[in-house]
Amino acid sequence: MVCAAVLAGGSGLRMGGDLPKQFLCIGGRPVIIRSIDAFISSGLVDRIVVAVSADYIDYTKSLIAKFLPKCEIDVICGGKNRNETLYNVLKMLKESGIGADDVILTHDAVRPFIDSRIIADNIEAVRRYGACNTVVPAVDTLVNSTDGRFINSIPVRSEFYHGQTPQSFNIATLLELYGNMTEEQFECFTDACSVFVSAGKKVFLVEGDRNNIKLTYPEDMEKAENIIKNKENG
Ligand code: CTP
Repeated sequence: MVCAAVLAGGSGLRMGGDLPKQFLCIGGRPVIIRSIDAFISSGLVDRIVVAVSADYIDYTKSLIAKFLPKCEIDVICGGKNRNETLYNVLKMLKESGIGADDVILTHDAVRPFIDSRIIADNIEAVRRYGACNTVVPAVDTLVNSTDGRFINSIPVRSEFYHGQTPQSFNIATLLELYGNMTEEQFECFTDACSVFVSAGKKVFLVEGDRNNIKLTYPEDMEKAENIIKNKENG
């Protein structure tokens, strides 16, 4: 089984506004619907689980009924941080039974521009290596400063990448690692790849896409509208 976990339990404080950014519309459709639809359209995923905060469960179900009728999608409650949201998905999948080779693609709902190529490459990478992260090479020079005033070092840029999502894993391994995490680790690990790396496991790099942006600040909405216009114009 290949499962997509669409993580949408955040509150979008940096974006501001009344409605969390995953529910805002771009090109006439909510961001969260675009992200879910990317997995449906790929035809590569057997099950989709969407995790939102408790207040938005009914709203999310109504959006799915409106924009993606007849699609069977599980909508569950997220957690107080991204790791907890993902763990809620994993626990739900465990209850329905997990096979040794099952794959999970974990995806930020606020990255609506993933495509079938990225999804396919993630699935293949997990089958071969057990875990992968979608990345793009760093463009700007990175500067390391521990005090925020003076430079400590300037690392070799060609060795650095920006992490996107999906981040994808063998589900059984991911569940085992999350099951052993402390409350503190849930807070401090920024994502599931950090959990894998700190456990000494290899995480393969899958080539991402510069259009696979994460909607974070208000100006990102305009970028998103432009990406949609460019895609429509071929
Ligand atoms: N996310 C989640 N559960 C949480 C927090 C975040 O599922 N408790 C999801 C978000 O919905 C988003 C992704 O993780 O799809 C990346 O979150 P990010 O944009 O970094 O955080 P937000 O809480 O959404 O925004 P902000 O940090 O600006 O408040």
